[in-house]
Amino acid sequence: MEGLEYSRAWLAYRKTEGVGDFAGSIVCRGGGVQLKTAATELKAAFEAMTGRTPETMEGEDERGADRPCVLLIEEASGGEGYRMELKDGVMTVSGGSCGVLYGAFALIRKLACGDTDFNEAKAPSKPLRMLNHWDNLDGSIERGYSGASFFFRDNKVVVNERTEAYARLLASCGINGAAINNVNVKGAASRLITSEYLGRLREMSEIFWRWGIRLYLSLDFAAPLSIGGLGTADPLDEAVRAWWKDKMAEVFSAVPRLGGFVVKADSEGRPGPFSYGRSHAEGANMLAEAVRPYGGLIIWRCFVYNCRQDWRDTKTDRARAACDSFAPLDGSFADNVYLQIKNGPMDFQVREPVSPLFGKLRRTKCLLEVQIAQEYTGQQRHVCYLIPQFKEILSFRTFNGSERDAVADVIGGMAAVSNTGSDCNWTGHDLAAANLYGFGRLAFDNALSAEDIAGEWIALTYGRGEKVIRNIRKMLMNSHAAYEKYTAPLGIGWMCAPGTHYGPSPEGYEYDRWGTYHRADHLAIGVDRTPAGTGYTEQYNPPLNAIYADRETCPEELLLFFHRLPYTYRLKSGKTLIQHIYDAHFEGAGEAAELIRLWKELEGEVEPGAYLRVLERLNEQLQSAEEWRDVINSYFWRKTMIPDEKGRKLY
Ligand code: GCU
Repeated sequence: MEGLEYSRAWLAYRKTEGVGDFAGSIVCRGGGVQLKTAATELKAAFEAMTGRTPETMEGEDERGADRPCVLLIEEASGGEGYRMELKDGVMTVSGGSCGVLYGAFALIRKLACGDTDFNEAKAPSKPLRMLNHWDNLDGSIERGYSGASFFFRDNKVVVNERTEAYARLLASCGINGAAINNVNVKGAASRLITSEYLGRLREMSEIFWRWGIRLYLSLDFAAPLSIGGLGTADPLDEAVRAWWKDKMAEVFSAVPRLGGFVVKADSEGRPGPFSYGRSHAEGANMLAEAVRPYGGLIIWRCFVYNCRQDWRDTKTDRARAACDSFAPLDGSFADNVYLQIKNGPMDFQVREPVSPLFGKLRRTKCLLEVQIAQEYTGQQRHVCYLIPQFKEILSFRTFNGSERDAVADVIGGMAAVSNTGSDCNWTGHDLAAANLYGFGRLAFDNALSAEDIAGEWIALTYGRGEKVIRNIRKMLMNSHAAYEKYTAPLGIGWMCAPGTHYGPSPEGYEYDRWGTYHRADHLAIGVDRTPAGTGYTEQYNPPLNAIYADRETCPEELLLFFHRLPYTYRLKSGKTLIQHIYDAHFEGAGEAAELIRLWKELEGEVEPGAYLRVLERLNEQLQSAEEWRDVINSYFWRKTMIPDEKGRKLY
């Protein structure tokens, strides 16, 4: 069946040297469903690593716990954290049922990576570590770059062996929630919360739960109208409130493992409380009340802005929208509501400042939303390892007045727009799997470094060959910087083809309605977002507002996001702005070529099929990078008529 060919990605265990005698038997104490999963997983891993099938003992039968073995102990009070200890040949992994599962994966990872430090205690940095799938019920995926949906086909929910294989991948890196349908809930998707679908969803949620994962759904705020037969979806209307309560009673009794709902309201044409003159808090709290009896969560997205702007209007600034809408509502959301905030104020560009909203919510739970679907970062045809960027975001100080004020301290978890689909390697580009794995690992442990995560993923996926680790790590670690260099300069963003968002189109969004303008003319480029301009800088807490508002202190990689500057402006490097643009584009395309060189050195060291798949995409990346270089450089050359100091070819 189509979509049933799939790889085991970083979980294809292989023969491994130095696995201790403990791998000979597995003893379980505890009856939790995830503990059983952990035992099965360990067994499979040990079999592949040692070539021997371990003996497994369950329940009260504890024969063997005093000779070399892995002892899995479920602690009733334990949550998702685990402790691991190797003593006298006995490897003890203990924690709550989910904790033991994470501990088992940690043990497998250590063995595969050759890490012999087995004594550790870990608990997830944050309780919520989610993926948001933008899958439609017809099987297509909005901004999907790796094939069709493996959750839906022909308006039906699909549950098959791939469902479990997927849950296993997520659990192995620490993800504990997945919203499976597109945030743009339309048509059949509105009916997911009806008896037509609940049976299948229950099956899926039970499979997920064996791997410690909660199923979430995206919700249609107007469901009382679209499926309820009511004349309104006004959140303060008594009939609407009663309808939601009844609906949630039905849904949670059919799918008791459901985690809750993601809601995109009053955004890009989606319905919401605004239509009834109500606030986001009134809308979210109404739903929160309906799901509260079942422990459900409402994840309310803050991607709210005016998408019918007039490009001639220079006062309205889309960047301000999330903060303008949500900062005044701080403290008014129910405690089972999380506000889900995109990392930047615009939309997943390769470079944006961190959203100022993180610094404004002191009494509201929130999640950081990132996008591993590489919508604006090469669509999984370019290598762009995003974990270094996510690290920067997490460590960004908000100056919200607390002692610990980084984004990582403010949030209750992370959500990523998923990059998976029915392609046999799950992520289209083989190397894009590093973003899926990396997102999970970083969400589980915010303190890990992007480099270490890359190293783990490479060892798990391709083995521990020295050159393999060195070259691929180099490729990954430099890929975001390279992409940034050959695309839109210095935080300006949006020079991509409208609609598809792939490839260069410097003015593609310039005269459009989306609020995404760079306003380049022959003398200057950029948007003045200081108090003299749109005032966006004032949404940041001091001293950030002043730092961004001053072109001398503004981080240079964001210069054109915050300032309008002449092309002759001198950067810290001594280069003019225009010369920086030319140089960066030549450099970036050169780095795309370097990716190919590094990969070619691995011929014969990685499996031939994978080698060729990646090579093909790297070739396309180079072609596309050269296209970006020439289109962007020529655009600025024609605008400014300032030649390249180095006399390279411009068109
Ligand atoms: C982007 C993306 C849309 C998506 C939206 C969202 O604008 O292009 O496809 O629906 O983000 O996050 O809701």
